[in-house]
Amino acid sequence: MNKERIIEILNKAIEREIGAVFQYMGQHYRFPKDTHPIARELLERIAVDEMKHIEKFAKRIVELGGQESTTTGKVVWETDFESMLNADIAVEDEAISMYQEHIKICEEERDEKTKKIYEAILEDEIRHKKLFGLLKEIIKIEG
Ligand SMILES: [Fe+2]
Ligand SMILES: [Fe+2]
Repeated sequence: MNKERIIEILNKAIEREIGAVFQYMGQHYRFPKDTHPIARELLERIAVDEMKHIEKFAKRIVELGGQESTTTGKVVWETDFESMLNADIAVEDEAISMYQEHIKICEEERDEKTKKIYEAILEDEIRHKKLFGLLKEIIKIEG
């Protein structure tokens, strides 16, 4: 196993997860409590999920003897709620394709442990994408 290669992909994943935390948490407090309570609540929960992903990736880096990145990946700010949710779906799409790619690298490097971490997190990202789609419908109903 090429440890350096695995540490490098894990750090790329961490950086985009940090960006996602900022994006979702920032939206959480921008959605007004009185008109969009469900969106507000769900955005906070998803932001916390992304924070837990950072923890899992970072723990593995430390286990492999590496140094975890604290660089923030891309954060997209939008002014209207529908555009915010579209930006979130784009973030999840990016994560899904990045992690599918990283799983292939884990297979090449015969790193079963890191692969399992990616597989579990990939399931979360697929679920997040569905939730953001659902939220788009909910904000239409909430008005
Ligand atoms: Fe994530
Ligand atoms: Fe996600």
